[in-house]
Amino acid sequence: MTEIVSSEGLCVTHCASLNELAHQFSEGTDFILITEEALVSSSLQAIERALRKQEPWSDIPIILLASAGPTPSRWTTGFVSKLAGNANISILERPVRVPTILSVLRSAKRARNRQRQLQGLLLQEKESASKLRSARDQLEQRVRERTSELSRINENLTSEVKERERAERDLRNLSAKVLRIQDEERRRFARDLHDGVGQILTGALIAVSQASSCSEPLPSPCQSGLRDVEDLLQQAVREVRTVSHLLHPPLLDESGLFSAVRWYAEGFSKRSGVKLRLEFDERKDRFDRNVETGLFRILQEALTNVHRHSQAEAVHIKITASKGRLLLRIQDDGKGIPSDALATTANGSQGVGLSSMRERTALLGGTFKVETNSSGTVIVVSVPIQIPKTLLA
Ligand SMILES: Nc1ncnc2c1ncn2[C@@H]1O[C@H](COP(=O)(O)OP(=O)(O)O)[C@@H](O)[C@H]1O
Ligand SMILES: [Mg+2]
Repeated sequence: MTEIVSSEGLCVTHCASLNELAHQFSEGTDFILITEEALVSSSLQAIERALRKQEPWSDIPIILLASAGPTPSRWTTGFVSKLAGNANISILERPVRVPTILSVLRSAKRARNRQRQLQGLLLQEKESASKLRSARDQLEQRVRERTSELSRINENLTSEVKERERAERDLRNLSAKVLRIQDEERRRFARDLHDGVGQILTGALIAVSQASSCSEPLPSPCQSGLRDVEDLLQQAVREVRTVSHLLHPPLLDESGLFSAVRWYAEGFSKRSGVKLRLEFDERKDRFDRNVETGLFRILQEALTNVHRHSQAEAVHIKITASKGRLLLRIQDDGKGIPSDALATTANGSQGVGLSSMRERTALLGGTFKVETNSSGTVIVVSVPIQIPKTLLA
C-alpha cells in the first residue's frame, strides 16, 4: 500500500494505532487511510476528538479498508456509526484492485485540495474584510477629528464675528455721537455768533449812525471816516449773519427741511454761479429733527463737492416723500467722480465728505447711492421718515 501511495508522489506517515493517528494528522495531511484491524473501540474517542478539532473549512477524507463479506464487520459498523456525523468516510472492501485504490486516492486528494483552496479564499476574504474595517475605522476617526476641528474653527469664527459686530456697533454709536455733537456745536456756535458778535456789531452800527447824524456838524474828514466805519460795520453784520446761517440755518428749526433747502440751494447758486433746478412741493410738513438735520447736512456736503470738484454748470435737486420714505436726489452735469476717488472713499481712507454722507444715511436707517460717469454725478439718499427705534441712541 505504501508503494502504491508513494507512486502518486505522496509522502506517507505510518501510525501504529488510532491514538497515534489522532496526534499525527494535521492540516497538511491529504487523506487518512485506515485498515479495519486498527479499529479498536478504546481509541475511537481520541480520533473523534481530533476530527472535531478541525478548522471549519477542513473535512479530511478518510478511506477505510474493510474486510469483504456479506455484512460489514462490527468494527467497521462501530467506527462508521460513531463518526458518521463528523467525518468524510469512504469504505473500500478488500481485496481492492490497484486502479480502484488509485482512483479513490486521487479523488480524496482532489477533494482535500479543494478544501485548501476554499481556505485560501476564506482567508483572503477575512483579510479584505479586516482591511475594509480598519480603513472604515480610520475614516471614521478622521471624520471625527475633522468634525471637531471644524467645530473649533466655527466657534472661533462665531466669536470673531460677534467681536466684529460689537466693534462695528461701537463705531457706529461713536460716529453717531460725533455727528450729533458736531451738529449741536454748529447750532450753538451759529447762535452765539448771531446773538453775541452780531448784536455787538449792530449796537456799534447804531452808535456810529447816531454819531454821524449828530446836530453838531463834524469836520469833513471825521464825517467821511464815520461813513466808512458805518459801511464796514454793515458789511460785518451781514457777514456774521451769513456765516451764522450757513453754520446752522434758523429756517431749518423754524420752517423745516424744504424751506431750509430752498434758502441754502438758492444762496449756493448765487455764490457759485451753478444753475439750479429745484423740484419738490414746498410743504410745511415737519419731520424728525434728526432726519431734517441729517438730510440738510448731506445736501450741504453734496453741493460743496459740486462746487469744489465737478465743474458742473447746473445742479438739479429733487425731494420726494412717499410710502413712509424721504428721497433726496442731487444731480450735477459735471465731469464725474474719478473711479480711484470713489474706490478710496468707499473704504473710508480718503475724503470725509462722501463717507460722512454715507454715515449720516446709515444712522437714519437709510440707503445711499452714488452713480457717476463723465457726464455727471447723481447722489440718491433714501431714508425712512420714522427712524427705526434701534438706531436711536
Ligand atoms: N460731484 C462731484 N463731481 C466730481 N468729483 C467729485 C464729486 N464729489 C466728490 N468728488 C470726488 O470725490 C472725492 C472725495 O470727495 P469727498 O469725500 O467729499 O472728499 P473731499 O471733498 O474732502 O475731497 C473728491 O476729492 C473728488 O475728487
Ligand atoms: Mg467734500
